[in-house]
Amino acid sequence: MRIRLESLLADERERFAAAHPRSRAAHEAARHHLLGGVPMPWMAKWAGGFPVYLAGAHGARVVDVDGHEYADLCLGDTGAMAGHSPPATVAAVRDRLQEAGGATVMLPTEDAAWVAGELARRFGLPQWQFTLTATDANRFVLRFCRQLTGRRKVLVFAWCYHGSVDETFVVLEDGRPRAREGLVGAAVDPTETTAVVEFNDLAALEAELATGEIACVLAEPALTNIGIVLPEPGFWHGVRDACTRTGTLLIIDETHTLSAGPGGCTAAWGLEPDLVTLGKAIGGGIPVGAYGLSTAVADRIAADPEGDYEDVGGVGGTLAGNALSLAAARATLADVLTDAAFARMIELQERFTAGVQATIDRHGLPWCVVALGARAEYRFAPAPPRTGSASEAVGDTELEDYLHLALLNRGVLITPFHNMALMSPATSEADVDRHTAAFADAVAALVT
Ligand SMILES: Cc1ncc(COP(=O)(O)O)c(C=O)c1O
Repeated sequence: MRIRLESLLADERERFAAAHPRSRAAHEAARHHLLGGVPMPWMAKWAGGFPVYLAGAHGARVVDVDGHEYADLCLGDTGAMAGHSPPATVAAVRDRLQEAGGATVMLPTEDAAWVAGELARRFGLPQWQFTLTATDANRFVLRFCRQLTGRRKVLVFAWCYHGSVDETFVVLEDGRPRAREGLVGAAVDPTETTAVVEFNDLAALEAELATGEIACVLAEPALTNIGIVLPEPGFWHGVRDACTRTGTLLIIDETHTLSAGPGGCTAAWGLEPDLVTLGKAIGGGIPVGAYGLSTAVADRIAADPEGDYEDVGGVGGTLAGNALSLAAARATLADVLTDAAFARMIELQERFTAGVQATIDRHGLPWCVVALGARAEYRFAPAPPRTGSASEAVGDTELEDYLHLALLNRGVLITPFHNMALMSPATSEADVDRHTAAFADAVAALVT
């Protein structure tokens, strides 16, 4: 199968190059002034050797400069979970920018309080602040947690991802913490700032928290950045208990797991975090991040005599909470990523998952498909891995490259990292079925 894979990948690369001359030319021209030929390093990760260049995108469809149209299940790696340019968001952005005017003024708008109220309704945490990215939301809440507890360390799960947050790039090798390979210019070895345990390993988490050194646990409710790794029954109950017993704060990062429903896994699974972070999707494509605080945490901040929370204490950003981001977030939450929209997105995920499973079954492949609300992912393992390290071990870059490119050549985009697909309110049955057919075709070529 491996030799066949190599030759199929070469065929797909040839087909891709032949069909995308304008993208290739645009990429070559861009190399003069864009490092690596792209404005942001992840955009170089597409399997064809160069990225397709965007002409336009509406709803769940993307058109490239060569005139190809794609059913987009990548959705900007969740940034476009609301669909591309949703009309309600576009109208609100246009109104704020053009009619009312004032994109960023260092003054609050009524939209900000509306969005905070809506996030409070969805996630159950009463107090909110805004950033431009989920990364910043995570950075800021880590500072709060260290400040409030007087403890220096944070705890994360191996192979987590929470944005470019220094403290989080730690994994386990043979049970020992080590910095992730290739870390660029780390100020300190992150094993000094961070304890790390496997997802679903409650005993290891309890042992770390028992040291009394951990300010907070920063976690996705299910890992989504090393394939999807779901929690086992009782895991989150145990984590919550251990945090409460040891005075450790619990931060739940819902940036991706918002796919589980309008209030993410926090609402869907009844989690009780002290802080929640999110970003990407809630602005309908316009940059915005957010963090929510429980009453107890908000009260502790208000009563803290030491921390400078209003000036240069390490939290904030000139454009954070700007009027444009919050106009976009209000419209997106009010009219696009609504409770009803999630119900339909989850139905589409079920259709997607059934299509993938049918191909796996047809060929008796030792693969599986894992779902989390509107999101699903296929894995090259017979059963879903239960830890980040186990999940990392079943990754297969060459096979992923082949599938990503074969899908792209058949008019479907999925996330260029692992095999993640996401449904938006604009996704149709036809988009899902296009993936089902393309996946069936790509896999048939591989196993025949
Ligand atoms: C769970 C999670 N949190 C935070 C982030 C950071 O988001 P951003 O890069 O938009 O800051 C990501 C990005 O992939 C993520 O997956």
